[in-house]
Amino acid sequence: MNLEELTSRLEGELARARSEIDKISDGDGLDELERSLLGKRSALSDVHQAIKDLAPEDRPAVGKAIGAFKEQVAGLIEARRAALGDGRGEAVDLLDLTLPGRGPGRGHLHLITQVQQELEDVFVGLGYEVAEGPEVETDFYNFEALNMPASHPARSMWDTLYVKLGRPEEVLLRTHTSPVQIRVMESQPPPVYTVMPGRCYRRDTLDARHSPVFHQIEGLVVDRGITFGDLAGTIDAFTRAYFGPGHTARLRPSYFPFTEPSAEFEVTCFACDGVGCSVCSKTGWIELGGCGMVDPNVFAAVGYDSERYTGFAFGFGLERMAMQRYGVEHIKAFFENDVRFLRHF
Ligand code: DAH
Repeated sequence: MNLEELTSRLEGELARARSEIDKISDGDGLDELERSLLGKRSALSDVHQAIKDLAPEDRPAVGKAIGAFKEQVAGLIEARRAALGDGRGEAVDLLDLTLPGRGPGRGHLHLITQVQQELEDVFVGLGYEVAEGPEVETDFYNFEALNMPASHPARSMWDTLYVKLGRPEEVLLRTHTSPVQIRVMESQPPPVYTVMPGRCYRRDTLDARHSPVFHQIEGLVVDRGITFGDLAGTIDAFTRAYFGPGHTARLRPSYFPFTEPSAEFEVTCFACDGVGCSVCSKTGWIELGGCGMVDPNVFAAVGYDSERYTGFAFGFGLERMAMQRYGVEHIKAFFENDVRFLRHF
């Protein structure tokens, strides 16, 4: 046989195979036919023999043609098997192109972002606006304008991370959201009713309640005739709106350079309900932040008239709020990005 004869022989075999396959109506018959068409002792054995007698340069073409023939026959048999529905065509049956795909799964907002947005909503409901400021601040906004001139001992309350920019100790990662108070007042005259959420940084060692990166929400109210009673009432309204009616908050005298008088805002411990445990250092209370009446020196720094206006301010830690509300016992849970934790909320 020469090359041409071999090729036309293969064509004939294919036509024959097709008509034979079509005639078969059961799985076993197909198996048998498959063996006779493709098995070792198939009708093609003489073609295999003939390859040896071909010119070497013609052999690859015949090899290819035989490969193609086998593939086509196998395809025809498979299709017939599927059409007969004997169960062996499963692979074909299972490919249901109408099924929806398995997508990469939809994410959701991080718990801290959810808490931030919910708090914003509570305050917007009380008539506040929302403002933001930069995370990299200057000494002026983070300290100076907040009544903490250089060398003021109160600066050591914040373990500041300075950035190598400008004069030494001029540029820093903000240690709290309080500098945004200054930016808001610089940008508008009173009255002010604004909350300012954002990320803060301190050279803190990680423990259950401290992390070098954390979030706060700052609040500032400036208007005529604002008193400490307004501050206490606002904190109370907010505590009940956010934690639920059963929760109590208390204000404890404290010190901050930018408020006078100042207080710490505490709520009953979520872990022990006020009895005292390791989470709250046996006090029954968890400190969420600070607050107080805006110091007249702060008003002076932004050109507000402290004879006409008074105001209050507060700053709360968002992680602590979330820990309190959802019973999270270690702050690192918010930053580890363990998907089991993230999915939980
Ligand atoms: N900025 C303070 C801190 O990070 C918290 C704070 C205290 C904010 C009193 C205030 C305030 O607005 O009036 O520790």
